[in-house]
Amino acid sequence: MNTIHQNIQIWYKKHGRHDLPWRTSNDPYHIWLSEVMLQQTQVATVLDRYYFPFLRQFPTLEALASAPLDAVLKQWEGLGYYNRAKNLHKAAQMIVEAHKQKQLDAAPSLPCQIDALMKLPGIGKNTAHAVAAFAYNKPVPVMEANVRRILCRLHRIETPNDKVLWKIAYNMVDKSHPFEYNQAMMDIGATLCTPKAPACHRCPLADACEGKEEPERYPLKKKKTIPTREQHIMLYRYNGELAMKQRTGKFLHGLWGFEAIDIPLCAAEYIGEVSHAYTHFKLRCKVFLYDEPAPAQNDYFSPAQICRLAISKVDEKILKLYRNSVLSD
Ligand code: ADE
Repeated sequence: MNTIHQNIQIWYKKHGRHDLPWRTSNDPYHIWLSEVMLQQTQVATVLDRYYFPFLRQFPTLEALASAPLDAVLKQWEGLGYYNRAKNLHKAAQMIVEAHKQKQLDAAPSLPCQIDALMKLPGIGKNTAHAVAAFAYNKPVPVMEANVRRILCRLHRIETPNDKVLWKIAYNMVDKSHPFEYNQAMMDIGATLCTPKAPACHRCPLADACEGKEEPERYPLKKKKTIPTREQHIMLYRYNGELAMKQRTGKFLHGLWGFEAIDIPLCAAEYIGEVSHAYTHFKLRCKVFLYDEPAPAQNDYFSPAQICRLAISKVDEKILKLYRNSVLSD
């Protein structure tokens, strides 16, 4: 074993997050689910509120595949990036369907090859590598954001290029211990090689790191300006129930939502404003209440019924605003 691999193994034994439930499971479905949840969400959030309840409701791939999409979206509510849930559901159905056609005895499972994994919806290059390394012990690297940052610093790369980084990652992976190596790399990135004030003096990679004199330079941060989108939301109230529609467009597809309109009606009552930050934009909604049925095709629900639907964070905030405004009337 080379020195870097040895240092990583020693560090991982002592400091690794060994008790994360997806690290103590060898079920590919559990590992895949954790990787999808962790794509855009912090470990603590996934662990506290989402991973276990999801598996309680959909304990197997077959259970997930046969569930209605609404139930999957409801379970995902609050995690955001709902395409992840839709793709997970679709991929589970594709796996179960392909398995039926082959008439195999064993239960359906995820494929172990990277190209076959990448053919499934929602499984990109990193997730495919993570499932291959963690569920099937394949000698391949993973490349989530933390690992990317480590590789940039190790080689003083200011503006990374995917092809180059994957090449470096493949050259570096510990082919005899891919599971521990990759989990360790993610832990080093999450706890030591942090974006700001990295703890280089405790890093097992420090001897090999070319960027340790000025780690915060690698990679260079892109300046992002996040636009704000303004919307008018109309709450049509009829017999004490609010009008809602299941969204059909690309944004928040499948979730139930309140109606957005171009110009609020004069007779509507302004009840306040809510906002929510997405990755690429900030959404600010001025909310109006109107005691008439909605003009377009809608369903009507009481606030208690709305709580049982899958709705977005913004609509949850709008509902809260509505409830507060009713209470203060
Ligand atoms: N982020 C993505 N995959 C992870 C894992 N296996 N452990 C911790 N954080 C992760």
